Parts: sequence; C-alpha cells; structure tokens
Amino acid sequence: MEADLRHYGALVVEDAANVSARENHLVLSWLDLMQRVPTYYLVFHFVLMLWMTRFLSNRFMRPLNHLVKQTKRIATGDFSAVKPMGKYRDEFTTVEVAINRMLRELESRQNSLIDSHKLRAVGILTAGVAHELNNPLNNIMLTAHAILEEHQELSAEETVAMVKDIVAETDRSRAIVHNLLDFTRETESTMEPLQLGRLVEETARLARNQVKVKRAILESFIAPDLPQIQGDRQQLKQAILNLILNALDAISEEGIIRVTVAPAAPGFLQVQIEDNGCGIPADALTHIFDPFFTTKPVGKGTGLGLSVVHGIVTKHGGRITADSVHGRTVFTVTLPCVTPVAACFDSAERKRDHRA
Ligand SMILES: Nc1ncnc2c1ncn2[C@@H]1O[C@H](COP(=O)(O)OP(=O)(O)O)[C@@H](O)[C@H]1O
Ligand SMILES: [Mg+2]
Repeated sequence: MEADLRHYGALVVEDAANVSARENHLVLSWLDLMQRVPTYYLVFHFVLMLWMTRFLSNRFMRPLNHLVKQTKRIATGDFSAVKPMGKYRDEFTTVEVAINRMLRELESRQNSLIDSHKLRAVGILTAGVAHELNNPLNNIMLTAHAILEEHQELSAEETVAMVKDIVAETDRSRAIVHNLLDFTRETESTMEPLQLGRLVEETARLARNQVKVKRAILESFIAPDLPQIQGDRQQLKQAILNLILNALDAISEEGIIRVTVAPAAPGFLQVQIEDNGCGIPADALTHIFDPFFTTKPVGKGTGLGLSVVHGIVTKHGGRITADSVHGRTVFTVTLPCVTPVAACFDSAERKRDHRA
C-alpha cells in the first residue's frame, strides 16, 4: 500500500514536472514572440514608409519638380508651352493648362508692348529721317534746275554726269526710306541666322540723324568674322535702337556714343552701347529694367524702353547688364551664337591675330 502510494506520488510529481516544463516552454516561446513583435512592427513600418515615399514622390514630388523646372524656364523668357507630365488629367494638368493659357496671354501682351514701343521709336526717328532726306532732295532739286536752265550750254558728258548725280542722290534717299520702312514693317516674329555686326550697323544708321541733330558722335566698332546669332531681326534692331536712343537722351551736346560688337564668353557675342552722358545713380540702377521706371519728364519717357529691351534679350536666350558711373554708362547685351562654340573661339583668336 505504501509502495503503491509512493509509486503514484512519483507519477504525479513526474506529470506535474512535465506540465510545468510544457507551460514553461509555452511561456518562453510567447515571450520570445513578444520580443520579436516590435522588430516585425518596425520592419513593417519601414517598408510601408518606403512605399508611401515612393507613392508620394510619384504622385506629387515629380510633377512639382517638373512645374518648378518649367517655371524657371519661363522666367528666362522662353514662353513655349508646358508639356503635361501625367497621362491622366489631374490637379497638376489643370495647373499646367492654366499656366499655358497665361503664357499665351503673356506672349501676346509682350508682343503688343514691343509693337507699341516700336511705333514710338518710329515717331522719334521720322523727324530725323525727314531731316536726313532734306540733303539728297536739295541736291536733286539743284541739279535738276541746273540741267533745266543750262541744258543748252552743257555738253552731253556734263549732262550725263549731272543725271548720274541725280540717280545717286535718289538711291541715297531710297536707302534712307527703305531702312526706316524695313524697321517699321509688320512681320511675323521669326528667328533666323543673323550677322549681329551688320544688324547693329543698320540700327546705328537709323539713329544717325538724331545724333547729328544733337551734334553728338556715334562710333561703331564691329569685330571682323563674327559667327552668326539666331534671332528676330526687327526685335533685335528695336532693342539696340532703344539703347542708342537712351544714350542720346543721356548725353549733352557733343557727347559720344560708342557701339561695339565683339565675341564675349565662348559661344556668345556681345553688343556694348557706351555713352559719356549723365550716368545712372546707384539707387536707380536697380530699377531701370522695371516697367514704367523713368526719370524723364511726362511726354518724354515712358519707362518701357529698357523693360522691352530686357524682354527681347531674354527671349533670345541672352543677358543684359548695365554699369554706370557719372560720365560713363555701358549697357552690355550678350547673345548666344548659332554656330558651335568653337567658331566663336576661332573668330576671337583670329581677331587677336589680326591685331598682332
Ligand atoms: N544711357 C543711359 N544713361 C543714363 N540713364 C539711363 C540710360 N539709359 C537708361 N537710363 C535711365 O533708365 C530709365 C529707364 O529707361 P527706359 O526704360 O528706356 O525708359 P525711358 O527712356 O522712357 O525713361 C531712364 O529714365 C533713365 O533714367
Ligand atoms: Mg528709353
């Protein structure tokens, strides 16, 4: 009996030990699992975060970056339309469509501003052109009168020489009118390869009479063999003319305006318009390109000239800067060449060779 009791007691103890070991094991594995849960949790969150970042980046950041890039491009004066990024219409496409509508409006307003300013310049030039036409017309009239009154005494050779004079003077008048008409002509804005030197010479010729009336001197220095630039002839002429007319306003009688065309940084040409006029005070210098900023009396200045010039230059991928001290103002317009960079280097080298 005692032995049985001992035997069953031992069995109970053994079972209890087994149960205890099993429970222990269970508790330990639970504890182990509990320890790992935060790690799983973290890994899960990390993966979720990665996925969210990718999703947000695709959904918002990329289109936003695209918009930022496009607005930077627009700020440089390139008004071509923004190409939508997404395949489907979403909030970003709506913004892009709105920007494109604004761009069209902006371009048409800028063009009408340029046109209206051009008309103003034509108004100023017309007086000068009329003055310039006076000389050849006088010569024609005097020669024609001489032929009319003295034709009996004149030899055939003398008459022919006088008629040739009349033809030459008529050609000169036609060239003067043609130059102005060419500037006034309404043309579609077209970008074409241009010889910047020739364009600047033609523009300086347009202003020649205003210069004469003011008893000033207009000198031009055009470097030889310059590469071509890509541009709108009329608009570039207008920009250069505005700068020359400003210089004319700034100088007193017998002032000097110097126009230079030369290679600038590789791949760029520069036009400099320098005058020895009143100069621009430092506080005004930061505002001169703002629309409607003028120091001239009402009726004389509109304050739009330089903002139009700035618009035209940036549209051509160029830059305009102004430096001024009392008695010396220089506007520098830098424009990219069409021809490869090497060509600009070439011509700069050649120019140096010429000088050597
Ligand atoms: N060459 C220059 N010398 C001195 N001041 C200048 C010169 N060019 C421009 N300015 C200044 O910049 C201002 C703005 O020029 P602009 O935009 O052409 O307008 P506007 O000629 O109608 O005044 C002028 O009023 C003048 O004060
Ligand atoms: Mg002006």
